[in-house]
Formats: sequence, structure tokens, C-alpha cells
Amino acid sequence: MEVNKKILNKNLTGKQAGYHRAVKIWLIVGLIMVVGQIVIGGITRLTESGLSITEWKPLSGAMPPLNAADWQDEYEKYAASPQFEKIFADISMADFKFIYFWEWFHRQWARIMGMVFIVGFLAFWRKGWLHGRLMRRLGITVLLAAIAASFGWIMVASGLHDRPWVNAYKLTIHLSLGITLFSYLLWTTLKVLYPLEQGYPQNGVEKWLKPLNIVLVLQLILGGIMSGARTAIVYPEWPLMKGEFLPSVITDINMWTVDNFVNYEQSVFQPALIQFLHRTSAYLLIIIVIGYLIQAFSKAISPLLVKTNAMLVTLLVIQALLGIATAVSSLGQVPVGLGVAHQFGAIALVGVVVLLNYLYHPGRVLADVDKTVEKLDKIVATVELVP
Ligand code: HEM
Repeated sequence: MEVNKKILNKNLTGKQAGYHRAVKIWLIVGLIMVVGQIVIGGITRLTESGLSITEWKPLSGAMPPLNAADWQDEYEKYAASPQFEKIFADISMADFKFIYFWEWFHRQWARIMGMVFIVGFLAFWRKGWLHGRLMRRLGITVLLAAIAASFGWIMVASGLHDRPWVNAYKLTIHLSLGITLFSYLLWTTLKVLYPLEQGYPQNGVEKWLKPLNIVLVLQLILGGIMSGARTAIVYPEWPLMKGEFLPSVITDINMWTVDNFVNYEQSVFQPALIQFLHRTSAYLLIIIVIGYLIQAFSKAISPLLVKTNAMLVTLLVIQALLGIATAVSSLGQVPVGLGVAHQFGAIALVGVVVLLNYLYHPGRVLADVDKTVEKLDKIVATVELVP
């Protein structure tokens, strides 16, 4: 009886004890893998590898070409694509293998992530460690991952006919779905790791938090279009854009046509507008964060919030500097290292903003955490009654 009591007490250190340690580690691993998926996606795009695999074979595609004949076969399929015809017609087999690797690795990482999820899910479900609202959240996570993956293929397919690059808007949807998946899984992980029954007192920060969320989402969408439409190389300078703060092409009302948005490759208007908006919403984000901090620090504040706020400012400043460095270095091509760092910075910033929102508005504690703790409380009470 003493042993049982020890085990129960060990598991009952408050609401955090609601889930088994293995479930918590599994969720953290999942989160790291989703970040990895987004970063590898960024490398795939920046190394111009995204169109090297011209088929969608979720299962059989796990096996890369293993002999010279298979490689030749893949090379010929790529040779039939517009990107090969219009841009990379002289690509060597060695260079083709390099770009093929990144696209294959991006897809393979997704397969491994799926395996980690399924194996963990089945094992923990059989043990009875998953239930209720967590199951529902895990179901939504799988759905989001499946939608993001399917949209990945829709995006790739958009670059296999006529245009030699993927469509910038489809790339943005794919990136946004990836970031949504990351945010949702992070929220779920926070609910499991750090259940909060009540949010921190808002003390008026509300009026800054909402604009922060909205402008950040807008900024991510604009960033996606920036990278998809390769607008960085049109204005490799900062703070001005070809000598102007507001490019005159934007103020020309005749340029605001649907065609300029759809056929952005032939347009001087869309790249100017998107880059101008991306820059200005970064400045807006900085103003909002300053306003938020003044409000937050004018009242008593918990150590955890102090740390989160410090992370917010640090990441925002780093992200803005990385954006500027990426822009001014994009002479003919976006540098892979800076481009990936700027993308990773965006994910980190989203992570901190999700945490901030969670601390103020955690929502309902996962019901089954309550139930598990209640159930264990009852067992402990029974154990204690027995001499
Ligand atoms: C401070 C908040 C900012 C956020 C959250 C942000 C976010 C993003 C995101 C999510 C992307 C797409 C990344 C990808 O798909 O690889 C992007 C691209 C880009 N951003 Fe920002 N950005 C910020 C500020 C800036 C600033 C101040 C500049 C300066 C001009 C800038 C320049 C760029 C450039 C040049 C790209 C395209 C890089 C590429 O083609 O890979 N960003 N941004």
C-alpha cells in the first residue's frame, strides 16, 4: 500500500500531473518536428528545389531513386517541366540530385512525422492515457497536417504547367497552414504541460494584444507572398525602395488591376506593393509591441510574463534586422542562410505570441485533466483511509 501511495503522490503534484510524462514528451517532439518541417520547406524553396519531384506518391515516394536508371527516369520527368525548359535546361545530374534531395527530404520528414504521431497515438490510447478533449484536439491536429500536406501538392502542381515557379498565393496558403498547425499544436501542448485555470489579469493590455495578433497574421501572409513572388530581388535595399519610401507605382491608380495581382511576374506593381506593405507592417508591429509593453509594465506583472515580454521584444527586433539583412543581400538571389533564419525567426515570434495569448486567455482546462486529477484524488483518499 505504501508503494501505491508513493506512486500516486508522485503523479499528483497539481494539475500538471494530469498527463503522463511520455505524452508530454511526445507532444514536444511533435512540435519540434513541425518546426523542422517548416524550416526544411524554407530550405527547399530557397535552394529552388521544390519542383524537382513531379509526382505525388505519399507512400511509394518514400524510396528515393537507388540506381542510375531510376535517376535518369526522374531527371527526364523533371526535364518535361516548364522550370527545366525555361530556366534550368543545363542542370547537371549532380545538381539535380541536390535539389531532388531537399524536396524528397521535405516530404520524407512529413512521413516520419506522421509515423511518430500514429505510433505514439496508438500506444498512448491503448494505455488509456489520452481521452476527451485532448483526443479532439489531436484529431484536429491530424486534419490540419493532412490539409497542409495536400495543399503542398496543389502548390507544387501549380508550377508544373506553364509557369516555371509555384504560384505565390498557393505557397502562402501552404506556409500559413503550416504555421496554423504549429500554433494549434503549441496551444495544445501548453494546455497539457502548463494547464491554467485562469488567465493573468489583463490590466488593459487587451487593446494591444488584438492588433498584435491581427497585424502579425497579416505580416506572415505578406511574407509568404514576398517569398513566393520573389519580390526581395526587386528591391535589394533598405530603408528606401529604388530611392522612394512609397514607390510611385503604388500611388498610380491605373496600376490597381486584377491582372497585376494575378500575373505578378510581369508586373512592377505587385512586388512593390507587397514589399512596401511587408515593411510597413513590421514598423506597425514594433509600435504595437511598444504600446503593449508600456501598458503591461504599468501594472504589477508576474515573472513569467516579464520573461515572455522580454522574449517578444528580443525576437521582434532580431526578426526585423534579419528581414532587412535578407532584403539588402538579395542581389539576384535570396541568400539561403538569411532567408531560412528570417523564416525561423517568424516561427519563433509566432510561438511567443501564442504563449502570450495563452497566458492571458488559456480557455478551459482540458476536461480530462480535471477528471484524471479528480479520479486520482479519490484513489488517494481511499488509499489514505485504508490503514
Ligand atoms: C518584424 C516582423 C517580420 C515578420 C514576422 C516577417 C515574416 C516573414 C515571413 C513569414 C516571410 C516568409 C518566409 C518564407 O516563406 O521563407 C518573410 C519574408 C521576407 N521578409 Fe519578412 N518579416 C518581418 C519583417 C521584415 C522586414 C523589416 C523586412 C525588411 C525589408 C523583411 C523582409 C523580408 C524579405 C526580403 C522576405 C523574403 C525572403 C525570401 O524570399 O525568402 N521582413 N517575412
